Amino acid sequence: MRIPIFCFGTAALAALSGMSLGIFMGIRQDFTLAPVHAHINLLGWVTMALYGLYHRGARRGDTRLGWAQVGCGAAGFPLMTGGLAYEFLTGDTAFLWVISAGALLSLASMALFLAVVLRDAGREGAGAAGGQPSPGW
Ligand code: HEM
Repeated sequence: MRIPIFCFGTAALAALSGMSLGIFMGIRQDFTLAPVHAHINLLGWVTMALYGLYHRGARRGDTRLGWAQVGCGAAGFPLMTGGLAYEFLTGDTAFLWVISAGALLSLASMALFLAVVLRDAGREGAGAAGGQPSPGW
């Protein structure tokens, strides 16, 4: 599977979950999970789709750094939003570490995204100067 397909598939699953939760909240008129809904949509749908668009537009093959980057993003938002949902519904903070782990994975994914962009910029610079682009890792 290619990185963009993985990103768009994950993003679509997130959008389906987030929108369904939004409709469910509206029907029940209970907005306890509004922050969970917002983060599924923003970290899951919007952010993963943007990662996918970037990787699709990059003129290179998939790299291990790229997979690590999108993997952290795809693992981060379900952990964070799942942990948040549990805490909001039960008031139990026992799984605060799950929320923290999800948030840190999401942050790591964005930091790795910066690394991906800088690496691509370096490759493009090497190509423009007539050098051979590095094979990628
Ligand atoms: C079927 C589509 C959607 C439905 C039915 C829906 C429904 C809702 C509802 C009922 C609320 C709570 C409003 C309130 O607290 O009074 C809400 C809040 C929110 N929604 Fe959606 N939504 C949808 C899609 C989206 C999408 C695609 C995004 C972002 C990309 C989004 C982002 C947000 C945000 C940021 C909030 C505010 C959360 C908060 O106040 O904590 N929603 N939505």
